[in-house]
Amino acid sequence: METDLKQTEIQAKSEIKSAKTSADLDLVSKKYLGSNGVLRLSFKGLAKLPEAQRRKQGAFLNKVQKEIMGFIQEKSETLGKQKTVFSKDDSFDFNQPGERIVIGHLHLLTQLRREVEEIFQSMGFSVALGPEVETEWYNFDALNIPKDHPARDIWDTFWLKNLKLLLRTHTSPVQVRYMENNQPPLRVIVPGSVFRHEATDASHEFQLFQIEGLMVDRNVSVANLRAIIAAFYQRLFNKSVKTRLRPDFFPFTEPSFDLAINCLVCQGRGCQVCKNTGWVEMAGAGMVHPKVFQSAGLDPKKWQGWAFGFGLDRLAMMKYKIDDIRLFRSGDLRFLNQF
Ligand code: FA5
Repeated sequence: METDLKQTEIQAKSEIKSAKTSADLDLVSKKYLGSNGVLRLSFKGLAKLPEAQRRKQGAFLNKVQKEIMGFIQEKSETLGKQKTVFSKDDSFDFNQPGERIVIGHLHLLTQLRREVEEIFQSMGFSVALGPEVETEWYNFDALNIPKDHPARDIWDTFWLKNLKLLLRTHTSPVQVRYMENNQPPLRVIVPGSVFRHEATDASHEFQLFQIEGLMVDRNVSVANLRAIIAAFYQRLFNKSVKTRLRPDFFPFTEPSFDLAINCLVCQGRGCQVCKNTGWVEMAGAGMVHPKVFQSAGLDPKKWQGWAFGFGLDRLAMMKYKIDDIRLFRSGDLRFLNQF
C-alpha cells in the first residue's frame, strides 16, 4: 500500500504542477482530497487493517495528505499572484457586450457636394478646384470688375493684410483659371468654400459653399443652361420643383439671371428662410461676358458659354428642409448626427 500511496503522491504533484488556472487546481484538489477523492477512499480502507498496520499506514497516509495539501496551497498562491484574466475573481466577462465605438461620418455638406458632383459628372462635366486665398485679379479684375467699380460692393470682402490677396468671395475666379489651362469645348463644375464679410441670418452665412458651373462651346445658349439645371434639380430633389428665372446683374455675364426655387422648407407658404416670399435664390447665372473670355486668352468671337454659381448650403436647406443655415457650421452633434 505504501508503494501505491507514493505513486499517488507523485501523480498528484505532477497534476498540481501542470494546473494553469485556479479552476484546474480546484479539480485536482477535489480528485485527491474531496469527499470521494483518492485519499479519502484510502482512509476508508484503513478500517479493515489490523491495528498495528492501521497505525503505520494511517501515519503514512496523513503524511501524504499533508504533502499534497501543502503543494496545493503553494500552487494556489502562485496562481493568485499571476491573477490570470480567467481567474474567478477577475471581472472580465467574455459574454458582456463590448463598448460601442463611436465612428464619425462625413459632414452633410460634404455628402451633398459629392452627390452634386456625381450628377454633373454623369452629364459630362469635369470637376476642378481653385484656391481659397485668391488674387484681386482673378476674384475681380479678370471678371470685368475693375477697381473702384461700384459692382465690387456686391461682395463684401475679407482682405488679407498685404491687400493684394483676399479670401475669394465666390467660385467664379476659377472660370478664368480653368479656361487659361483648358481649351474649349469644355464643361466643368467647381465646388468650394467662399467668404463674405456680411451679417448672418437664417439664409446667409459669412462662409458658404458654392458650386460654379461653366460650359463653353461654339454654339451654346440659355436654353442649354435651363435644360441642364432642370435635369440637375430633378436628380437632386427626386421630383420636379417650381423654378423661377429672373433678370439680374453680374459684371461677368450678359445677360444675367437669378435662379430661385419655390421654398421647400415651407412649400412656398412663407417662412424665415424665404423671408415670407415663398422663393429662395439658389444661384446666379448668365452667358459668359466677352471680357471674361479675353481675360482667359480666348477669342469671344469664336466661343460662347454660360456659367452659374449655386449656393450648396441653400441646396442642402431645400433638400433636407433645414430652416437655419447657421446650423451647418455650429458643430452641434445633435444636428449633424441626423444626416
Ligand atoms: C455669385 O456669387 C456669382 N459668382 C454667381 C454667378 C456665377 C453668376 C456665374 C453668374 C455666373 P451671388 O452672390 O448671388 O452670386 O451668390 C450665388 C449664390 O450663392 C446665391 O444664389 C446663394 O445661393 C448663395 N449665397 C450667396 N451669398 C450667400 C450667403 N451669404 N449665405 C448663403 N448663401 C449665399
